[in-house]
Amino acid sequence: MTDTALRPASVAHLQPLLERLTLEQKAALVQGADFWTTVAVPEIGLRAMTLSDGPAGVRGPRWDEREPSLNLPSGSALAAAWDVDLAYRYGAAAASEARRKGVDVVLGPTINLHRSPLGGRHFECFSEDPELSAELAAAYVRGLQDNGVAATPKHYVANDSETDRFTVDVRVGERALRELYLAPFERAVEAGAWAIMSSYNAVDGVTMTENDLLETPLNSEWGFDGVVISDWTAVRSLDAVPAAQDLAMPGPAPAWADLVEAVRDGRVAEADLDRKVLRLLLLAERVGALGDATPVEPAPVDGPAFARQAAISGTVLLRNEGVLPWDAATLGRIAVIGQNARDARTQGGGSATVIPERVVSPLDAIRAAAPGAEVRYEIGAVVQEGVAEIPLAQLRNPATSEPGLRVAFFDADGTELFAENRRSTSLVWFGGDAPIAASATVVLETLYTPEHSGDIELGFAGANPGRLFVDGHLVLDDAPVIEGTDLGAAFLNPPSLTSTVAVTAGRETAIRVEFSRAPGGPLSGAMSATLGIAPERTDADDLIARAVAEAEASDVAVVVVGTNSKVESEGYDRTSLELPGRQDDLVRAVAATGTPTVVVVNAGSPVVMPWAGEVGAIVQGYFGGQEFGHAVADVLTGAAEPGGRLPTTWPAALADVPVTEVVPTDGRLEYREGIHIGYRAWLRADAAPAFPFGHGLGYTTWSWGAAQRVGDALEITLANTGDRAGKQVVQVYAERADSSVERPERWLVGFATVHAAPGETVTATIAVPPRRLAHWAGEWVVEPGAFTLRAGASVADLPLALEWPTEGGLA
Ligand code: BGC
Repeated sequence: MTDTALRPASVAHLQPLLERLTLEQKAALVQGADFWTTVAVPEIGLRAMTLSDGPAGVRGPRWDEREPSLNLPSGSALAAAWDVDLAYRYGAAAASEARRKGVDVVLGPTINLHRSPLGGRHFECFSEDPELSAELAAAYVRGLQDNGVAATPKHYVANDSETDRFTVDVRVGERALRELYLAPFERAVEAGAWAIMSSYNAVDGVTMTENDLLETPLNSEWGFDGVVISDWTAVRSLDAVPAAQDLAMPGPAPAWADLVEAVRDGRVAEADLDRKVLRLLLLAERVGALGDATPVEPAPVDGPAFARQAAISGTVLLRNEGVLPWDAATLGRIAVIGQNARDARTQGGGSATVIPERVVSPLDAIRAAAPGAEVRYEIGAVVQEGVAEIPLAQLRNPATSEPGLRVAFFDADGTELFAENRRSTSLVWFGGDAPIAASATVVLETLYTPEHSGDIELGFAGANPGRLFVDGHLVLDDAPVIEGTDLGAAFLNPPSLTSTVAVTAGRETAIRVEFSRAPGGPLSGAMSATLGIAPERTDADDLIARAVAEAEASDVAVVVVGTNSKVESEGYDRTSLELPGRQDDLVRAVAATGTPTVVVVNAGSPVVMPWAGEVGAIVQGYFGGQEFGHAVADVLTGAAEPGGRLPTTWPAALADVPVTEVVPTDGRLEYREGIHIGYRAWLRADAAPAFPFGHGLGYTTWSWGAAQRVGDALEITLANTGDRAGKQVVQVYAERADSSVERPERWLVGFATVHAAPGETVTATIAVPPRRLAHWAGEWVVEPGAFTLRAGASVADLPLALEWPTEGGLA
């Protein structure tokens, strides 16, 4: 296990190496060499370290379908498993992917909180609760680092929403900061995190890369000895040097361009620089990038099998009126409905995106799991907005005749600088070989053979002006309008432009897109472009009617509903919790047929479900990773128990949600609610959500036995009273009715996952150290007297209670 006892680690042995470095070398070392790597200094045995996004898998330094990655379920799905051991194995799986791809540092886990369900990167973060987030963060960090790869918990701190994320000034009281937003970082540091990512936003008026919070509590109280890596371009000035901001990424960082001069003329102390370099050398030693240190070889992992198990473990059965599990052998005909049933969303958008080798859709997996049944598909409602990539099987590269396309890069004189053969029409260059910065024109060429005749909406998405030619004819010449100022959002989820084009089934059509690029700008070395097809213009009522007819003719119906990339991604927040398109009407219409209907929700964060009471079962499948479809089929057929419990309160309507604000006023976002977010806020408002925090059903029944205190732990016995093996998540909450300080009515202090055979009684032991009961009053204080601990299956279902006397004092 990672050794945390000796923190902060001694760096005395690295001092001689530091002394061999020139000022120029030191200044270079604290800035990236490029997008994803650090600077190498071979004279001292230091190689470059490679950093990479995930965190739901590891993309690697190239964003390239030719180098695919394991696509694990997203953060909220992992959190829904409430399983520390699984989170550890998830970290280990990421480490194995990292090493396979030559990555030393994984930029994750993302441990900001689900403060408002409108947060656009909710899917990537774990939970609304700091304790659940903290435990999972620590386990993920250990899983990665025990296998030799550095974790970078992010984004430190208060980056809980995306609107104006580069500039927003989050105003948050000290108590909320300590008890909620910092808590997961504190536990991740306790677990030994070798790096932390500082966020774009400001807290209390100071941008995070210059904020005192980098020193206190991170270094001075928690003993962090790792590297603070900036979020990409978050370093704004030399003021980040005296602040404990260690590595400016990507590099070379414009804001630190005259770092050497600044040291020479005394604006910056060389000692500040030295401290950063020593930390960087320590990180290099830890990941095996310095001297003779060899990297730890990660244990081998069966990636797809683990991804499937993780997805099952995080699938939450929200409602079940005796409809699930199906007895697949008795089903003659199954109606599978919904765009996401066929085009599953297995991950959220933005920098967390990885490119999987394959994706298992619910439709394919249900077909495989019910071989005796006739499985019929209807789209029912269109969910996709904008263009989606064209399937590889329908494309031929004109240069090689292989499936795919040719991409060529030209300078301003029209000289071809570089060309590559690609296998996806959705392309991102963000590091890698292509000479993006030097290119004035980028040309995509392919031969497309449609499966059906008719009109298609052909076009492109990108941040650059483009000209689209079909069989030599110009059909589109336009520049996308970039909304907002978040270049990351424009870059990672750019707008689409399309033109209606008539195609003939089986007839090859030559497509060419020319993108023109303006030089300069902060992302001049990066580009994204998708050549694709937008949903055809269809009659929405007709699609619903066809789905209804199919449901009527079937024994069961499953409707997979979900969000799209315009709803859950990076760089913007959500404006509503409604499902896009006509999906609500679709579900209602299918349910009204009387055919037992299951709704599977394919979304990374809560959506409102006005039809919740009308359907037989609701399964929240999250962004379940590349094996999502198998997980759904396993749960529907009962091959596996749905293992998830909600890591975040699920509202019935946005208007009911106590904390929603994500839009700053005059540049400020006030966390007015203080320590009351998530279920704490719902309890305070005495409001009932659609499904409470911690809720999730299984396929067996349980009886809760007794709770007893053993030292600082709570022992809880419970029995599986059903006739199937099952999983239960035992949750322990504290209350302090007579408190002299403001508190949540109830807060999570611990949890454990148990598995039991039919009839088996099991005991869960949950540590409740004093710190879980403490509140922040300039230090961690435990109020003397008795707390009440309650245990059960959700924040709203707590059959066991115990008085928990304390002596009080500092924790
Ligand atoms: C994101 C980070 C990410 C970084 C590098 C930023 O825009 O906020 O989470 O690690 O880009 O891709």
